[in-house]
Amino acid sequence: MFGYDIEADVDDEFMADPKFIAHSVQLIGMFDQALKMIGPDGQLLAEQIADLGQKHVGYGVRAEMFPIMGKGLIAMLESQLGEDTFQDEVRKAWQAVFGVISEDLMKTVLRASRDVANIDKNTSAAVTA
Ligand code: HEM
Repeated sequence: MFGYDIEADVDDEFMADPKFIAHSVQLIGMFDQALKMIGPDGQLLAEQIADLGQKHVGYGVRAEMFPIMGKGLIAMLESQLGEDTFQDEVRKAWQAVFGVISEDLMKTVLRASRDVANIDKNTSAAVTA
């Protein structure tokens, strides 16, 4: 994944990759921050997501990598939390949060790559996990 292989299978090896795990911790930390800012500071949240999007442009991240990251995140949470905890509504809630934030990040990435015509088509694919 962090070699940017978009054909990557989301299997046990993928989920055990230390870089994937470290990034998942950063990503979930970001969700946590974002949820705390909803309501009290929507403008600051929008700015932080825009900054994070720019950082991802700098890392060489492409829009088509987001669904793989989402799939990996959901699969990892399911395997760690177990089926009893990770029921349908929990899965849907995680997919919704991942979908909303990655949609904004993807827009920044697509704008940077000047793929403006595909913004709506590509960002709607964020929630595939
Ligand atoms: C909702 C989606 C995502 C969120 C919330 C997210 C969040 C983050 C955060 C908070 C950081 C740390 C930034 C910092 O150091 O200030 C980060 C770093 C990074 N992210 Fe993401 N990310 C997402 C999707 C992706 C995707 C799809 C990729 C593609 C492979 C990716 C690749 C990276 C890389 C390469 C880094 C730098 C890691 C390092 O410093 O070693 N991210 N991400």
